Amino acid sequence: MSENKPDSDTNSDTKNNFTRPIRSFVKREGKLTGGQKNALEQLWPTHGVDLGDQRLDLTELFGRTAPVVLEIGFGNGLSLADMAEAHPDMDFFGIEVHRPGVGSCLVQAKKRALNNIRVSGEDAVLVLNQQIADGSLERVQIFFPDPWHKKRHHKRRLIQPVFVEQLVAKLKPGGQIHVATDWQNYAEHVLAVLTTNPDLKNTVADAPLAASFVSAEGELLTDSALWAGGSSSAVGSVVPEGTAPIDNPLLAKGCSERPSYRPDTKYEHRGIRLGHGVWDLIFTKEK
Ligand SMILES: C[S@@+](CC[C@H](N)C(=O)[O-])C[C@H]1O[C@@H](n2cnc3c(N)ncnc32)[C@H](O)[C@@H]1O
Repeated sequence: MSENKPDSDTNSDTKNNFTRPIRSFVKREGKLTGGQKNALEQLWPTHGVDLGDQRLDLTELFGRTAPVVLEIGFGNGLSLADMAEAHPDMDFFGIEVHRPGVGSCLVQAKKRALNNIRVSGEDAVLVLNQQIADGSLERVQIFFPDPWHKKRHHKRRLIQPVFVEQLVAKLKPGGQIHVATDWQNYAEHVLAVLTTNPDLKNTVADAPLAASFVSAEGELLTDSALWAGGSSSAVGSVVPEGTAPIDNPLLAKGCSERPSYRPDTKYEHRGIRLGHGVWDLIFTKEK
């Protein structure tokens, strides 16, 4: 999570005259346990998805037609396995770049004989662009994404307007995007990004309107100090980093109760131990 530290503040390798894409992760190889290695070897042919440039046929991939949930950044995969076990009528496609995490998810799939999980170990941005068909997903869930808490790293946050447009295209009409985070400043950023997407509607009644997050000049305001009026005295306050939650009425209005289908996750526990709050944001694709 917040331990992810890029080598430098920018992802543009200007010294060598080429530009690297901005990534939402730093790849940590990590050592595989024996169990993870075995699970990867044994289950990859049936449960693993290699990167390709063709759209996946989800019916073929899961061997049936059922609603498909995509989880991005599943970490150790325990909560993904819990959901797959609790919802045998649904299929779960998980994407996680950390290989030991993919191995650990497959250990769970093997132990619990889960046939409704498939996993990819690639960057979700590539998998989405290249392999997921438009209008194919029931839900996209991103639980406790890396918050990239320093301001100069905010550009590395996965949830950005263009990325959300891509997610929305992959959802069926009526499909949902569910983001949970323990980092208030990221929750505020996500609320602004999701609310201002014209195809999404917050699932909570009486949610804040998009206008609250857009300046008079049409600029997206992800800084909560500027919400609803463009003045720092308007709503909430700038949230000091890494502290307990600070009352922010607009954020409170925009968040959902945690739905019963979302299990606790490893990073959620860590956040709670550190005294953070937890915010769930759930939006529906309208048409
Ligand atoms: C803070 S962890 C949260 C893990 C898990 N969801 C949980 O709550 O315990 C975020 C995870 O997202 C993964 N991740 C970040 N960007 C990603 C991307 N573009 N594609 C796939 N995985 C990504 C990281 O490797 C990391 O494991």
